[in-house]
Amino acid sequence: MWAERDQRDTTEVQASVLLVDDDRLNVELLMAFLEGEGYRVAAAFNGVEALKAVAAAPPDLIFLDAIMPGMDGFDVCKELKDNPDTRLIPVVIVTALSASEDRIHGIEVGADDFLSKPINRQEFVLRARSLVRVKRYVDELESAERVILALSKAIEARDGYTEKHMERVTRGAVALGERIGLPEGLLQVLYQGGMLHDVGKIGIPEAILGKPGPLTDQEFALMRRHPEIGVEICRPLRSSLVAQTLPIIRHHHERADGQGYPDGLAGEDIPLLARIMSISDAYDAMISDRPYRRGMLPSSALDELRAGAGTQWDRELVGRFLSLEGSTVLSVSQEAE
Ligand SMILES: [Fe+2]
Repeated sequence: MWAERDQRDTTEVQASVLLVDDDRLNVELLMAFLEGEGYRVAAAFNGVEALKAVAAAPPDLIFLDAIMPGMDGFDVCKELKDNPDTRLIPVVIVTALSASEDRIHGIEVGADDFLSKPINRQEFVLRARSLVRVKRYVDELESAERVILALSKAIEARDGYTEKHMERVTRGAVALGERIGLPEGLLQVLYQGGMLHDVGKIGIPEAILGKPGPLTDQEFALMRRHPEIGVEICRPLRSSLVAQTLPIIRHHHERADGQGYPDGLAGEDIPLLARIMSISDAYDAMISDRPYRRGMLPSSALDELRAGAGTQWDRELVGRFLSLEGSTVLSVSQEAE
């Protein structure tokens, strides 16, 4: 019982709610309900005020009256849901009980939930409690995403690479994606995938990552687990962008001839973005200094790619990557080394 009480204290007492309604009496009534439950409550009396209030102090939950003069609740909701900074704040649209078309409109503008007037106190308070709980959970996952990106950067150093390897791999992959005309959305996935593709190396012993010399079969078997470990680390994240990077993380060591890992996929069975990543990753690995060897000259690395086109890497994509020679992507890599 005490544990329950403690949890309530940390999750709900400090939660903040914004009430938006042009009817001041209604606002006062709802405010009294929420304050009785220990929430911090702010109020706005029209759409413009509501957006200003959210920008000044983003709340954990917003109740929006559907019908207001000027900018109505739907307009406010759409604006909040279109903005990456505010789209994760749950919005409840408050409508008249009979207005089913309002609900459809509300779904279209991204409302998270609805509440009917006249408002039932118990239903209102329960709705607030459950949405705040979800919001807290989302906040935690969002910060988990930041932690994993930081982790990914830390691993780069642990892997014995010189600085910026990950960023160069990412830049090369995005440049290749642009060269083959991928849409902006997929370029973003490539970017995120580039930053995360080796995060699973956190599960590989440092003695193996930085070993000066070839790995034994047993060590290599362990090393080959990093794509799967990476997927396990990133799978719980709720961001749809991260979800789309999972095939890159899992398959960036597959080979065109089916001799790669972890699944031995061949040719076009390997997801396109993973095929792109593997070329940029291999190129930068070849030109990078490692603890046990100097990096290759860029021209020699490109020769290696040419030689492995069709066996290790996708032939057509290697051709497109080679066509980047002389562009800033590859020359910046050379300067950095
Ligand atoms: Fe890797």
